[in-house]
Amino acid sequence: MSANAKCWSERDKFMDVVGIGLANIDLVAHVKDDFLTQHKIAKGQARKMDDLSFARLRGELPSFEAIPGGGAANTMCGMAAYGVSTQFYGKIGEDSFESLFRASFREYGVAYDVAPGRRESSQCAVLVTPDGERSFAYIDGASWDLETDDIDPAVLEQAKMICMDSYAFKFGKNESVAKHVIQCAERKNIPMVMKVKEYEFIRPYAQKIKAMADGGVLSLLVGNHENLPFFEESKGIEATLEFLKSWKCDVLMTANTGGAYFISKGEITHHPAQVVANPKNTAGAGDQFLAGFLMGRLDNKTVTECMEFANTCARSILMHDTARPPLVNKHSIRF
Ligand SMILES: Nc1ncnc2c1ncn2[C@@H]1O[C@H](COP(=O)(O)OP(=O)(O)OP(=O)(O)O)[C@@H](O)[C@H]1O
Ligand SMILES: [Mg+2]
Repeated sequence: MSANAKCWSERDKFMDVVGIGLANIDLVAHVKDDFLTQHKIAKGQARKMDDLSFARLRGELPSFEAIPGGGAANTMCGMAAYGVSTQFYGKIGEDSFESLFRASFREYGVAYDVAPGRRESSQCAVLVTPDGERSFAYIDGASWDLETDDIDPAVLEQAKMICMDSYAFKFGKNESVAKHVIQCAERKNIPMVMKVKEYEFIRPYAQKIKAMADGGVLSLLVGNHENLPFFEESKGIEATLEFLKSWKCDVLMTANTGGAYFISKGEITHHPAQVVANPKNTAGAGDQFLAGFLMGRLDNKTVTECMEFANTCARSILMHDTARPPLVNKHSIRF
């Protein structure tokens, strides 16, 4: 190995932010509201489907575009687009989507070196209704097969921040991946950010997530106004904010055009959105909002400054069919 190569391989291990989550291929389609009703998908929510139901749904889409996605992956791309060094851990399948997924990361400059899984890539239908709202239908797949061996401990241990989606509790046997990541963060005193999404990835883990906050390993809990209430068995925004006020970590709750709330040390602040009327596709607004917010935190900005930058990042994707900042070379396949 040349001295230069060694220098690069060592440099590659120093990532500011490491993301862990689903390596989804988004199938982005514009549909009428009826389509959601027909497929029993609650608007704005996500529904896990069996392979047959998903194949039927896919067959009924007039056209769609396959685009690399996944929450933490999108956030890593958003930060990398502004020059933050990021690495993503999530498993893609060994299929026609693999090269698309890798090419997109290369384009954004996100480090990604996970070997493909045996199952097909995880797919998520991103169903966009005329009001720009997105609803999800997804199936299993390679994403859920990420193992601890896929994660380079040297990369994890030197991170300034680790962002893990709560989906990761289902990676590996007996929560092995999440345990591994949490233990490393605890040992090395690395602040963890956890984004939560659906009921089935919040309720069973609510106590564990709270324990992470109590133990000081969880620095920031992130969700939106529809899923954070699951911590309190769906008692609404106000009750949820009051409930989360006593938590020892900071909390970021986005609320669509209602802006975002931040809780820190028992104090709740509200930060309005600069509303874009008639958005084309709001999928990924939360992912890019988080990218902007975290970049502000890494730069030790005030909460207001973090929120302003977060809003700018979220707005940048609202008129595009991509959950990542738009690039000249769009890595997608049209069907
Ligand atoms: N129409 C809009 N105009 C301006 N800003 C918006 C609009 N929609 C969303 N945002 C901004 O994006 C942030 C995140 O949006 P939202 O709460 O809908 O996230 P989400 O649905 O959880 O995201 P995702 O689709 O990535 O899962 C909001 O807090 C707001 O600041
Ligand atoms: Mg939304």
